[in-house]
Amino acid sequence: RRLLGVAGATGAAGLVAGGAGGAVAAEAVRDQPAELASVGRGEVPFHGKHQAGISTPLQAAGHLAAFDLAGDADRRAAAALLRRWTRTAAALTAGKPAPARDTGVARDAGPSSLTVTFGFGRSFFGRTGLADRLPEALGPLPDFTADHLDKRRSDGDLWVQIGADDPLVAFDALRALQREAAETAAVRWQMSGFNRTPGATAHPMSMRNLMGQVDGTNNPKPAEKDFTAKVFVPENGSPAWMAGGSYAVVRRIRMLLDTWDHLSPERQDQVIGRRKADGAPLSGGTETTPVALDKFTKDGAIAIAGDAHVRVAAPESNSGATMLRRSFSYHDGYRDDGAPDAGLLFIAWQADPRHGFTPVQRKLDRGDGLSRFLRHEASGLFAVPGGCAPGDYVGQELLE
Ligand code: HEM
Repeated sequence: RRLLGVAGATGAAGLVAGGAGGAVAAEAVRDQPAELASVGRGEVPFHGKHQAGISTPLQAAGHLAAFDLAGDADRRAAAALLRRWTRTAAALTAGKPAPARDTGVARDAGPSSLTVTFGFGRSFFGRTGLADRLPEALGPLPDFTADHLDKRRSDGDLWVQIGADDPLVAFDALRALQREAAETAAVRWQMSGFNRTPGATAHPMSMRNLMGQVDGTNNPKPAEKDFTAKVFVPENGSPAWMAGGSYAVVRRIRMLLDTWDHLSPERQDQVIGRRKADGAPLSGGTETTPVALDKFTKDGAIAIAGDAHVRVAAPESNSGATMLRRSFSYHDGYRDDGAPDAGLLFIAWQADPRHGFTPVQRKLDRGDGLSRFLRHEASGLFAVPGGCAPGDYVGQELLE
């Protein structure tokens, strides 16, 4: 898919004087690929112990899609699909065309940090006769009082997460996988999201969400010693086929932006417990200063309010429960009431959701100041197996 020059005649690179228009860019000679721009060059290895797209830095464009197996698709058909999907994802993430059929959508672009991540929903196991291999951690999420869930846009047999720093590359991957599902599985729901484009800020920074907050600061970091234990199922974990895997909780969370935007900047800071301007905790310091939940201000008030989001969500308030939040923003136009249909495609990764998302969301459900400005509209929980070696396919240990 590398950029190939089409002029071919001059053999020169750089600016040359040309025609009536003056200077025009000469293109690389036909047999010499032009150097890709930095965003296009980014390549995330597909193969490995863990699937890509979990601890990978967030990309600018994302798609989430859930598929349901066709009525007559059995375990063997599902295995064949995962084999096809793996082959295609490995090619596309290396910047090569889809093996089955290249539509040309991503032609000219490099890999653009494309990642493709595959998961299994609870319903997959019954449909494929694999009920005895259903992980306990994949038990249905409990109902939360703040839920306004649309069942048609929730759950699903199979789940795919795509991320890339170029929207055409991301679409190309989604289309290739959907086409390859062919007779075996059909799209149940699909959502698209985005994040800031790498290079748009003066230096690399945490993302901002559509409420304008710096988001992701207190995530576990890959360089931390306990990162792997928090995010991935251990090698000797159960079930064995999930070793090196992770559990993804997906929530489509609409933000009530018209209400939120009416709050004063000070109130917005208090709702989170951090300054919107720079992400610093209200207990003092800069964005990376640890939050001091027991700090009082000079006037004797608690610096971080009792219902501040970071207090209620913190591991300290939830017996250590933790997760890696790796979300995309979404905007699907405007609703009938004129409000933006926008928010967060919230994705939480953890070794076990019963010690990650679930207790934290239970606590947020009861006393989070931010919840008044949110609607959870769709939900899914997926078992995402470990990565595979070249020649193998994702989910092979479950399906063979
Ligand atoms: C922290 C926003 C939903 C769990 C934060 C922070 C922001 C934020 C701005 C502070 C910066 C940071 O550390 O990342 C939001 C928004 C949400 C949302 C806008 C919905 C649209 C959730 C949900 C959960 C969650 C559903 C889990 C059930 C956390 C956790 C922290 C956090 C664990 C870190 C707390 C700490 O240790 O300091 N969130 N959040 N958030 N959020 Fe959320």
